[in-house]
This record gives sequence, structure tokens and C-alpha cells, in this order.
Amino acid sequence: MEPIRVCFVCLGNICRSPTAEAAFRHLVESEGLAARFVIDSAGTGSWHVGERAHPDTRAAAKARGVEVTSIARQFTAEDFDRFDYVVAMDHQNVRNLRRLPGGAERTIHLFRDFDPGSPAGSEVPDPYYEGGFDAVFDICRAAAAGMLARLRDTHGL
Ligand code: 4NP
Repeated sequence: MEPIRVCFVCLGNICRSPTAEAAFRHLVESEGLAARFVIDSAGTGSWHVGERAHPDTRAAAKARGVEVTSIARQFTAEDFDRFDYVVAMDHQNVRNLRRLPGGAERTIHLFRDFDPGSPAGSEVPDPYYEGGFDAVFDICRAAAAGMLARLRDTHGL
């Protein structure tokens, strides 16, 4: 069976989307569904391409038993064809994605909209300037749980 392909997207691909990717993958693996998914992340910006995730991002995840292994890359228009679900962390990410070729026609999901405990339109706050890496992990973990529950429903997993 074809895997379900998921790409989490933020601005720099060193804080939020690597956290989302790692939290979602951890959950998928813990539920024995690893073979059913391809899970990736990317940034709309190129500043940090080739870098590991922010040290505080990795530390917040590791403290909760989750490894963040991503290497930053920039999202390209071709990624719209490569992924079934493009999942943005905030409204700016959605706008940036819509400006790419083919982006206006794509469904772009807002990550926290999968979390039944978050008001519609909620964003994952950017910790790069303001901090709050631990809170970002917990937000991403809750959204990942809601997303997997939704995908289990949608895809009969
Ligand atoms: P992220 O955080 O989008 O969650 O990876 C940021 C990382 C870097 C920058 C902005 C946000 N930056 O401007 O370099």
C-alpha cells in the first residue's frame, strides 16, 4: 500500500517544523504505523539550509524522549507533488506556500487545526526570537496526536 506522505512546514526549518516532524514520527512509530507514512519537514526560507535543528529544539524534544534528526531544507514547488499533506505552522507559512507555483490550488493545512483542544486558526508560536521551546514541543505533540487520529479516520488506519 502506498504510504501517506506528510511534510511539515515553517519558516526556517530549524525549530517548529522539525519538532512537528519528530513528534509526529515518534507517535506514528509508537502506534506501529511507521510503514504507512513518509514524514518530512521543510522551511519556506533558505537561511538555514543544511543545518541541524536549533540546539534548544533538540534539547526540548530529547527531554521528552524524542530525537530531532532533520537537516534543514527549503520547500520547493515540486514538494506539492511529492506530499499528500502539506502542514504549516502559522499563517505566514501558509501565505508563503500559496505564492509558490501551484500553491494557490493546493490544500494547505494549519497544524494546530488538527488539535481539537486548540481554537480554529491557532498557530505554533515561533520560538526563534522569543524562546518557549518546551511549550512549542507540547503544542506540537498535541497537534500530532490530533492529526494522527484524523488520518486514522480518513485513511482507515
Ligand atoms: P522556525 O524558526 O521557522 O520555527 O524554524 C525560525 C528559524 C529561523 C528564522 C526564523 C524562524 N530566521 O529568521 O532565521
